[in-house]
Amino acid sequence: MAQNIVWHQQSLTKADRREKNQQHSAVLWFTGLSGSGKSTIANAVAERLFKDGFQTYVLDGDNIRHGLNKDLGFTEEDRKENIRRIGEVSKLFVDSGQFVLTAFISPFREDRESVRSLLKEDEFVEVFVDCPINECEARDPKGLYKKARTGEIPHFTGISSPYEAPTQPEIVLETARFSVEECVDRLIHYLKEKNWI
Ligand SMILES: Nc1ncnc2c1ncn2[C@@H]1O[C@H](COP(=O)(O)OP(=O)(O)OP(=O)(O)O)[C@@H](O)[C@H]1O
Ligand SMILES: [Mg+2]
Repeated sequence: MAQNIVWHQQSLTKADRREKNQQHSAVLWFTGLSGSGKSTIANAVAERLFKDGFQTYVLDGDNIRHGLNKDLGFTEEDRKENIRRIGEVSKLFVDSGQFVLTAFISPFREDRESVRSLLKEDEFVEVFVDCPINECEARDPKGLYKKARTGEIPHFTGISSPYEAPTQPEIVLETARFSVEECVDRLIHYLKEKNWI
């Protein structure tokens, strides 16, 4: 870390922003295999919250790799750095008084736990988008599994790189059993139950 850096306390606080927005702020951290439904559900939840007047933002894997993280590849080290940066950006969104929904495969438990540790206990919700790999592969919305099988894409999660499922996620969404709408309802119900919206 560089020297001679002094934190400047902002005059507006997270509490001020939450009060103005009439909501809590937190990260809804979606994790799961490619094609499990992270982006689909995260966007649908954000839309529902937006319609109800809440502040939300979706951080999505490929989009972040177009800009902030375009210098990173898919080696274990780069994936770690990818998640670390997203964790820090998510924290800024929480500070700004919004819900941030993140849609990254984030296959490693340790990386997800390190994001959790950046935040307070009521600011990190791990959402396990649980879907059997054969179903994800059958969906293959981006044609990635096909490429992974031929070896065109190396280090592909679930095929040539491991996926470490969460052991104690706050929410599990089984997308092969429940529809997108049902999964969205489940999450909205969770937020209401917590009195966060
Ligand atoms: N219950 C469900 N929930 C979410 N998606 C579903 C569900 N049932 C079917 N699908 C379909 O599964 C696909 C999920 O694709 P999506 O892009 O959301 O996955 P992803 O987890 O974001 O993958 P990636 O990590 O590659 O970005 C979509 O085509 C979606 O329509
Ligand atoms: Mg996605």
